[in-house]
Amino acid sequence: MKYRIASIKGDGIGPEIVTQAQKVLNAVGVKYGHEFEFVELLMGGCSIDKYGIPLTDETIDEARKSDAVLMGSIGGDTNTSPWYKLEPGKRPEAGLLGIRKALNLFANLRPAYLYPELKEACPLKEEVASKGFDMMMMRELTGGLYFGERYTKEINGVLTAVDTLSYNEDEIRRIAVKGFDIAMKRRKKLTLIDKANVLDSSRLWRKVTEEVAADYPEVEYGVMLVDNCAMQLVKDPAQFDVVLTENMFGDILSDEASMITGSIGMLPSASLNETRFGLYEPSGGSAPDIAGKNIANPIATILSAAMMLRYSFDLDKEADAIEDAVKKVLKEGFRTGDIALEGQNSVKCDEMGDLIAERI
Ligand code: IPM
Ligand code: MG
Repeated sequence: MKYRIASIKGDGIGPEIVTQAQKVLNAVGVKYGHEFEFVELLMGGCSIDKYGIPLTDETIDEARKSDAVLMGSIGGDTNTSPWYKLEPGKRPEAGLLGIRKALNLFANLRPAYLYPELKEACPLKEEVASKGFDMMMMRELTGGLYFGERYTKEINGVLTAVDTLSYNEDEIRRIAVKGFDIAMKRRKKLTLIDKANVLDSSRLWRKVTEEVAADYPEVEYGVMLVDNCAMQLVKDPAQFDVVLTENMFGDILSDEASMITGSIGMLPSASLNETRFGLYEPSGGSAPDIAGKNIANPIATILSAAMMLRYSFDLDKEADAIEDAVKKVLKEGFRTGDIALEGQNSVKCDEMGDLIAERI
């Protein structure tokens, strides 16, 4: 089969890591007889530099015309980059939020799995790390605080900033259904994370998710407050299977979940809409401090490509091949700098890409 993939390499380490994922996809194509065509598109800071805005209609249209989107990362150093002198709606991040909204990518899946080989890189206590963990963070991606009304103005002579957190029941139901469907294919456990002891929006999440849970009697359903969840993630991450939550909580908790896997450079993600279409990107940022040095970890992006094969193209065997190749290189002891232990040799970003591609 031939697949058309919109490739948004973006800023910082984005181009380096996406190039490695493309390399691995090409190896999959050769081995399994598929053709992956990459259409290179601009978004984020590189789009600002060329067009003055972080996301053009052309990028949105081309992405829509593709079978899936493979993305690197966008943004720069918020203290020094000229992009952050622009008004907020014209900064790189606005491009990312814009494409999520334009393509209706409401379900963000971030699987956090501790590879046994990386136990030493896990910052948790040995007795916690040795139990391992394998969870799917499901973050709502097109609602809540990220997309509510916001403004800053003087009210009675006092400068006041307002952000609005709102969800309607339909937005909650559609991701809850996806969450339970995924739980059915995993260990059949789903935990809703909220702040229902304070927020009305969280109380609606509980009500709607409980209704959806009734349709999935086989799934063990539970709720947990977000502050407790932040604590449980470092105390006993093995207890989690599917973790369902709203946009802002999911942003914060998924970084925490990624760090306990050893490095944010290990965490892939998929952002899906109602169809099979999706945008696939590593959960980490553009890391401007190490950009262009060929030392970034491309594994999260390579694993995101595997998620693309699985969720958008239904190519399970090919996705398995990528995930197995990653396991193999880790087992053989290859590490990028972020997951290497002190004194351990590390390989460069492009070498890691080669090693994984060779093992497909
Ligand atoms: C993420 C990132 C983005 C977010 C930023 C870059 C706007 O942190 O994908 O988690 O907050 O969603
Ligand atoms: Mg984030």
